[in-house]
Amino acid sequence: MCGIIGILGRTPVAPQMVDALKRLEYRGYDSAGVATLEHGHLTRRRAEGKLKNLEHRLDGEPLAGTIGIGHTRWATHGRPNETNAHPHAGRRVAVVHNGIIENFNELRRELEGHGARFATETDTEVVAHLVDHLMSTGLGPVEAVKAALPRLRGAFALGFIFEGEEDLMIGARRGSPLAVGYGQGEMYLGSDAIALAPFTSTISYLEDGDWVVLKRGGLQVYDEDGAPVNRPVMKSSASAFLVDKGNYRHFMSKEIHEQPEVVGHTLAHYIDFAAERVVLPDLPFDFTSLQRVTIAACGTAYYAGLTGKYWFERFARLPVEVEIASELRYGDAPFAPGNLAIFVSQSGETADTLATLRHAKANGQHVVSVVNVATSTIARESDVVMPTLAGPEIGVASTKAFTCQLTVLACIAIAAGRARGNLSEEDERRLVRALVEVPRHMTAALALEPEVEKLARDIAKSRDVLYLGRGTSFPLALEGALKLKEISYIHAEGYAAGELKHGPIALIDETMPVIVIAPHDRVFEKTVSNMQEVAARGGKIILLTDPQGAAEATVDSLATLVLPHMPASVTPMVYAVPVQMLAYHAAVIMGTDVDQPRNLAKSVTVE
Ligand code: AGP
Repeated sequence: MCGIIGILGRTPVAPQMVDALKRLEYRGYDSAGVATLEHGHLTRRRAEGKLKNLEHRLDGEPLAGTIGIGHTRWATHGRPNETNAHPHAGRRVAVVHNGIIENFNELRRELEGHGARFATETDTEVVAHLVDHLMSTGLGPVEAVKAALPRLRGAFALGFIFEGEEDLMIGARRGSPLAVGYGQGEMYLGSDAIALAPFTSTISYLEDGDWVVLKRGGLQVYDEDGAPVNRPVMKSSASAFLVDKGNYRHFMSKEIHEQPEVVGHTLAHYIDFAAERVVLPDLPFDFTSLQRVTIAACGTAYYAGLTGKYWFERFARLPVEVEIASELRYGDAPFAPGNLAIFVSQSGETADTLATLRHAKANGQHVVSVVNVATSTIARESDVVMPTLAGPEIGVASTKAFTCQLTVLACIAIAAGRARGNLSEEDERRLVRALVEVPRHMTAALALEPEVEKLARDIAKSRDVLYLGRGTSFPLALEGALKLKEISYIHAEGYAAGELKHGPIALIDETMPVIVIAPHDRVFEKTVSNMQEVAARGGKIILLTDPQGAAEATVDSLATLVLPHMPASVTPMVYAVPVQMLAYHAAVIMGTDVDQPRNLAKSVTVE
């Protein structure tokens, strides 16, 4: 994940920014840079690789200036080299960025038409040239940024400084976190409280859509409509080693809200945004030679695998067996040597998953692992590691790791489909565009939280809850039930909606909420029939759908959560957000230990 720091200071800021960036190293990066105003002029120092290379550059070419911005870059658009390292600059502005500018190609063409000369392959550079262009029309720096932000599509955090402006820094947040820090005659911007910890513990977190104008004497936050707003000023408890909860009550809540950012970073690891195609690491096998894929995992990771099955079979026409690791391990499933086994695990230490990996390897399978801890045992014993870039997941209930696992499995399935000739280049471009929009849709789903919190009150009063879904919404129904069970201790079950009449419908009465996960896809009408069966028996339905689904769901439901319209290929990542929030708020109402639920461990390293 990229890291941002900005200092509006009274002493030379370059060394301080490097120190702050060191506290963001845990986020992962492959290049870094700083920019300051040296005697009023924007000046940059950037370096590929680790921060020590930037320090070496600054030792040789010191950078003066008491105002600056700095960045650790996890390569998204463009190779991890010095040219593509942030800050990026126009003639009058320098900018650092964390996230994805989805519409960078069209903006780049527009700005080149206005004479902009691009020096990099990055999406970020369009932001610098856009603000530059707006300033060339006569707008001042603040007005130029205010006019530029609505032109950007995607999930991002930004920091700006300007030629000749010794007392001005601007920040903006949409989807990726950004905090401001209050000093003594100094002000700060940072990706999180950990980056700001060397300077201040008095911070405010920007909300989605906010932008902030900082001067040494104070700051003003504006909402996306440009209205001045006040954000709570809090004391942060961050330190270099303690992953901070930020202004969230629980790590689980913070991690639910981090999903636009970390899914964006995971996408960036597997997608060439300019070419709109998936790029996987070198593989020791050819997808065309595979007869079958086995996916094995436990718990939430197993449900990610179940979702992946639909994508492999749809995009790559590859038969997939998804197995609970503890069952496959002791079962008698035959393996045809030379096929692929994928192991999904957040911790990379789950005993059953690890043992099954060894079993599969002993049976001649190529082993790929989708893990969140690249140094884990499962990673080390795999032939190929496909990392989820979710960052540290502290809450025992997995959230951001799950949606990052889905993201990686979707990318692998698309690459397999392309390699096996089942997907054309245009098919791949279409599917990649849908993936690139996921962080923005997740941000919209997060905005449903107040409605979800109200619905959680009904859930919290229930003894049993049923989750229904079809297609890729079926594994999400299973995951939703697991989330609710494991943190609120309310019994819940997930079912394929088509299975309702084969037994579970006997459970339905007015005391049993039924959560129906049903985007308007090719099986929507079938699920509407299931909802009518539930409603006819007094069941209380909570429907998760999109605008078309809401319009066509002719059934009385307790409530309908309307998510944005999006391609069916990405609904599991986005619909996971309200499913997670519903379980979270039910648990908060129940007063359980949300981050450390009873009887559970974050990683089950025993059988
Ligand atoms: C998920 O919310 C649970 N904490 C649990 O089911 C978890 O997914 C399972 O134990 C697998 O863990 P892993 O992903 O670290 O292998």
